[in-house]
Amino acid sequence: MRRKLVVGNWKMHGSLAQNESLLSAIKSGAVQLSRVDIAVCAPFPYLAQLKQELAASAVKWGAQDVHQLEKGAFTGEVSASMLADFGCTYVIVGHSERRNIYGETSRLVAEKFAAAQSAGLIPILCMGETLEQREGGETESVVAEQLDAVIALVGVQAFGKAVVAYEPVWAIGTGKTASQEQAQAVHAFIRQRVAGHDAHVAEGLVILYGGSVKAANAPALFAMADIDGGLIGGAALVAEEFLGICRAGQ
Ligand code: 13P
Repeated sequence: MRRKLVVGNWKMHGSLAQNESLLSAIKSGAVQLSRVDIAVCAPFPYLAQLKQELAASAVKWGAQDVHQLEKGAFTGEVSASMLADFGCTYVIVGHSERRNIYGETSRLVAEKFAAAQSAGLIPILCMGETLEQREGGETESVVAEQLDAVIALVGVQAFGKAVVAYEPVWAIGTGKTASQEQAQAVHAFIRQRVAGHDAHVAEGLVILYGGSVKAANAPALFAMADIDGGLIGGAALVAEEFLGICRAGQ
């Protein structure tokens, strides 16, 4: 059995004061949750706060994006070695907001994945289709392209130390969750595709579901065979909701 993982993606939200109360609630709630892995990914300026607040906690933390290169004249960017130097565990790569708003291609996302891993970070690779693509019957081909770009660059063995997150774009921030059957079908597809390269890596791969996960719908989603936890947006900003989701992963 794979251990469940619940990751909060705060996106561009938070303040020192808000984070403080959210983190202290998560920290104390997490003490009772020893059978689920929990992590929080915050905006860059708040990573120092996560490092300090979560130092004595089992809750891990990470960033939401990373540059694909090691260093150089890239004003405003942050490299994987900097995040690793600072003590990050995770970094999200290829979130649909990065792909769709900032035009990140699957090739660029693969380069970010590779950079993260070579610095010793655990990449959380996001993938998922838009509503138009789902309605056009393209879900599997879209997810396959996003996955294959990474396998082509780094090889399937790299997925032994990575997390995948299936996040259908139409379910993000919309209150419209994929049904557990819809999510399970895509998760199984992703796992099979990885298994086509290496069955052992596929078996151990943690595949998170993201898109309007709440404490109320998490138990049904997490009960599915190939759903190994969640990547949580809006509900990660509310301590009781987030902890409720974490409890569903126990
Ligand atoms: P919501 O949980 O707000 O739908 O966001 C999901 C997401 O994008 C997490 O990365």
